[in-house]
Amino acid sequence: MRATRRPSTIVGKANAGKPDKRPLGIPVICDRVVQMACKLVIEPIFEQTEIVDCDIRGFFENVDHNILLKLVRRRISDPRVLMLISGWLQVARDYMRGPASINELREMLEGLGISLPITENTSILGETVDVGNRISPNRFVALPMEGADCDMDGSPTGLTFRRYERMAAGGAGIIWLEACAVAHGGRSKANAFFLQKSNLAMYKELVDRMRNAASQDIICILQLTHSGRYSKPGGEPKPVMVRHCPELDEAENLPDDYPLATDRFLDELVNSYVEAAVLAQQAGFDGVDVKACHGYLVSSLLGAHERKGKYGGSYEHRTRFLKDVITAIHKQCPSLLVTVRLNIFDGMRYPYGFGVSNTNPEVPDLEEPIRLVKQLGAMNVALLGVSMGYPRFDPHFGRPSATGQTEHPLVGIKRFCDLTGQVQAAIPGIPVVNAALAWVEAAFPQVAAGLVESRATQLIGQGRNGIAYPDSVRDILETNTFSRNACCVACSGCSRLLRDGKHVGCIVRDKSVYNA
Ligand SMILES: Cc1cc2nc3c(=O)[nH]c(=O)nc-3n(C[C@H](O)[C@H](O)[C@H](O)COP(=O)(O)O)c2cc1C
Ligand code: SF4
Repeated sequence: MRATRRPSTIVGKANAGKPDKRPLGIPVICDRVVQMACKLVIEPIFEQTEIVDCDIRGFFENVDHNILLKLVRRRISDPRVLMLISGWLQVARDYMRGPASINELREMLEGLGISLPITENTSILGETVDVGNRISPNRFVALPMEGADCDMDGSPTGLTFRRYERMAAGGAGIIWLEACAVAHGGRSKANAFFLQKSNLAMYKELVDRMRNAASQDIICILQLTHSGRYSKPGGEPKPVMVRHCPELDEAENLPDDYPLATDRFLDELVNSYVEAAVLAQQAGFDGVDVKACHGYLVSSLLGAHERKGKYGGSYEHRTRFLKDVITAIHKQCPSLLVTVRLNIFDGMRYPYGFGVSNTNPEVPDLEEPIRLVKQLGAMNVALLGVSMGYPRFDPHFGRPSATGQTEHPLVGIKRFCDLTGQVQAAIPGIPVVNAALAWVEAAFPQVAAGLVESRATQLIGQGRNGIAYPDSVRDILETNTFSRNACCVACSGCSRLLRDGKHVGCIVRDKSVYNA
């Protein structure tokens, strides 16, 4: 009997007592037999060892498979058994790989009974796009990606310059720089971006070096944020809470009575956004983004149904802070572009999320998000980035990843593209950025072109490929190629680096600089 080493299907398996699910591969019959035979051989060998019984979160995704195999080799020498074990590990890793061709993508979609637009002629991606009073030379956006490589005062370092010069040289028309705190207390970590008067010259240099590295007139946007409940200004958690949420509070070990930021604090924070925008303009950025996604402060306010006072409760109250910030920046810096990256679907149960059905947290309800994007459009927002989910809680809504994946990646991509299409249809005059496509790998250019052609988005964002494969835009536009040997493999390595407080880069494609 031969093992196929390929699961027949992958399902989301509920974790006892937890809201999330984990992917579970169902092996075909012959694999089950071979796995059982293998277990009978190796179990007695390992049972002689002292066993510690414990539950390690995300064990398979986080354990180093090379070390694991080395340890197994110490006890087992039969090459056939070793080959089987390493094969099973490899298959589980490969499950996260996307399609190797357009045809493979078509087959996968057909098998799942879903569709995505696919256009073989990708020239539409090289078209210019009006972004407020600027013009993007093409339809690609390098999405914000925290690098955690600044000095303690928030100044860019050599690694920061390297990341952004590579991105700018790679060909994207818009470089959307990562989250930059508007106040020290809102930094997500001790080495996060933080633009101040004292380090303005360093940020000027960063913008200049990006423009020099690019072979075209790029648009540089700095993302402004306050990390809210995820603030760690000196490296230790110092949450600034605008509302409670039982699941998130528990995950962060926060008591029910942890105090909430006052309305006065939020009133004053509006000024911090304006001050940061003024500095960004002085540094040479074309625009600033008001980050309203992923559960950070502004995003958290959008779902503050239970908060009392002027920033919580009704739709008007919950969206007030975001709108006040935009209005104040426009007033102070009329020629600066203002963009918004918005979570249109949090995936959190009502009343703790934005854009969710009030009966099922897995089901989006875009009534409020569409109302908001129309209002943002009327407020002259230059560009709207769509995002979903809280990366620290339900990352699969925003990006397929090796951890926390509970559905087939294409199901999530389809959801993302459909919802983004609804947002783009609501504001046809404003470019919307789709950020869902990394996993389609070899078919990336054709799906991107299909989405643009079908008007489901005007701009195509690249997050992890911005660090894994920064030259991908150039390859697509100049040679109509996209290398599967250079692209992101959705291994979650960079997210782990971020979580572990290390400098962030691609551990697969840039491993001479970054390693796990
Ligand atoms: C390590 C890491 C850092 C990120 N930093 C930011 C950030 O600063 N701001 C933001 O809006 N999104 C951030 N994101 C989300 C990405 O911009 C992007 O939405 C996500 O990775 C999905 O796109 P992709 O599949 O092309 O990577 C980050 C993602 C990762 C993995
Ligand atoms: S480490 Fe590299 S390959 Fe892995 S998810 Fe990040 S960018 Fe992709």
